[in-house]
Amino acid sequence: MAKLTYHGHATCSIETDEGTHLVIDPFFGDNPVCEVAVDDVDADFILITHGHFDHIADAIPLAERTGATIIATFEVASFLEEKGLKTSPHHIGGGVHYPFGYVKLTPALHGGIVQLPGGEAFTSVPAGILINLSSGQRFHHAGDTALISDMQLLKGQVDVAMIPIGDRFTMGPADAVRAIEFIEPKVVIPIHYNTWLPIEQDAGAFRSAVGDLAHVEIMAPGATYEF
Ligand code: NI
Ligand code: MN
Repeated sequence: MAKLTYHGHATCSIETDEGTHLVIDPFFGDNPVCEVAVDDVDADFILITHGHFDHIADAIPLAERTGATIIATFEVASFLEEKGLKTSPHHIGGGVHYPFGYVKLTPALHGGIVQLPGGEAFTSVPAGILINLSSGQRFHHAGDTALISDMQLLKGQVDVAMIPIGDRFTMGPADAVRAIEFIEPKVVIPIHYNTWLPIEQDAGAFRSAVGDLAHVEIMAPGATYEF
């Protein structure tokens, strides 16, 4: 069994059957709902959907302390490699085989600015992350995205899906239900909501709206889910 721990917002970690630690979208210190400090998180690989602060904030300290390899789009990976970190660049539609499984970046429709100290910034293309674990489980983190018809291409490829429902910056609950119709995952974990007031949502109402389409696992920060 793989063990997924939700850390609030879009941040989670997965311990694979073999004991590899994956961290997706490391946002710990400034994440108002996060239950754990970045210094207490294990990481062998850090996977980043896009360069917005609430997805990348703790990537550098986490990678520096653990020596983890960062998996991200070429632009984000290049930026982090310049900081002396180990990276494995991908791009949308491109996959790589790792010891823990196969990782492919999927399309997301969103922004991708990376803000640098001193007021400079560059932009990058946002992504979702599809992981086929070596032990067979298939997982998708949609990243920050609008509902896009490309999600239909994921149909039949995902067992557990993390899908944003916060609205305003990403899909809201109604579009997330349509995303589930497209992807047809067995289990849905709603993310990117209730971190701040502007993305407040009722996860129970979302679960009712999903109905029989999928099992909705509502996770509090710190909760774990095995799959
Ligand atoms: Ni974003
Ligand atoms: Mn975000």
